[in-house]
Amino acid sequence: MKSVFFGAVSATALIASAVHAEPQAEVLHWWTSGGEAKSVAVLQEEFASKGGQWTDMPVAGGGGDAAMTALRARVLSGNAPTAVQLKGPAIQEWYEEGVLADISPVAEAQGWADVLPASIAGHMKCEGTWCAAPVNVHRVDWIWANADVLEANGIEMPSTWDEFNAAAEKLQAAGIIPLAHGGQAWQDATVFEAVALGILGADGFRKAFVDLDMDTLKSDEMKAVFDQMRTMRGYVDDNFSGRDWNLATAMVMNGEAAFQIMGDWAKGEFMAAGKAPGEDFLCASVPGDGFLYNVDSFAMFDVDGDDKKAGQELLAELIVGQNFQKVFNLNKGSIPARIDVSLEEFDSCAHLSAKDMGESSDNGSLLPSYAHGMALRGAQSGAITDVVTAHFNSDMSSDEAVNMLADAVANSM
Ligand code: GAL
Repeated sequence: MKSVFFGAVSATALIASAVHAEPQAEVLHWWTSGGEAKSVAVLQEEFASKGGQWTDMPVAGGGGDAAMTALRARVLSGNAPTAVQLKGPAIQEWYEEGVLADISPVAEAQGWADVLPASIAGHMKCEGTWCAAPVNVHRVDWIWANADVLEANGIEMPSTWDEFNAAAEKLQAAGIIPLAHGGQAWQDATVFEAVALGILGADGFRKAFVDLDMDTLKSDEMKAVFDQMRTMRGYVDDNFSGRDWNLATAMVMNGEAAFQIMGDWAKGEFMAAGKAPGEDFLCASVPGDGFLYNVDSFAMFDVDGDDKKAGQELLAELIVGQNFQKVFNLNKGSIPARIDVSLEEFDSCAHLSAKDMGESSDNGSLLPSYAHGMALRGAQSGAITDVVTAHFNSDMSSDEAVNMLADAVANSM
């Protein structure tokens, strides 16, 4: 009897002190480019305005590979950050290691199930509990272009890969770099999956990069994807190796290059530099139907201390809050994850994204990005990207590439 009584008292005391504790959060993320930094500052400011103390832990490196290495080191040393930019199946992988905090009380109190599309909510759940909070929907399959460069060369936004290649040849002859690209594995993978969506179609993409269907991985269509990658290797400049994605975006901005194939965080970069869509730069989805989504989210790690727990609760609440979802995404280039945020202040590229996402969702062509960790577990997406990069940086034939791809995937399972 006695111990039950004392147990009840101490639980109440805990809740009371968590409520009064000053919210603290050490936040690990990889948002360090101009547009990204501006976006994450929105969260920092909201957090501070509610009395929170934010300790920033940015780990530079587009796509987050370096951030994920840093995260592993922190967790292994028993010192996990409070909140971490984490997405796709990596959320469930960390959950299975028993290191994530359950944020269901916040999610339920805020009614997340009513304001998030089921496809997004699914990624935020671990065995029925809420284990991550979504900030946005990035679209990956975009082509960005310098409007003046296209006009001066009499080129329209391409709607087929043949048109893209014809435009690239023309630009190259005029002394302009057709494709701004950074030779980093995740950027190679980003271009590859955009090409693959166009050539394989939505069903083929799903079979290859969601179901890991061996026949599709080795198919003639997949060879055609590698053929197009080989052609595009001829459209990048000599200094592409290792270049950061935002520097490639800057090449399109200043007219040194005409096109970039990149997710709409590139739009965040154009906007941060004061460029306007439709005037300075153009956006179009890559040739082919479908929509590759990449949802950024934050997971909370199991940490001690009422101040940190209060920080996690506050962060989760703010992240899915209506105001944050609007202001953050206006800066980030993405669209809100919530369905009830008005897009009135958003630009034409965001409107196109929202429209295409709705249509793709209805016709079954809304697909998770493999290159941005939404479709597969790390071992499998890593195996695919290794082949894509090895092919792009050598004279490997498309035949060799598809065989290597099928072997790599088989060995990763
Ligand atoms: C993506 C991430 C985006 C963007 C990009 C470049 O994986 O989802 O938010 O920042 O990397 O770093």
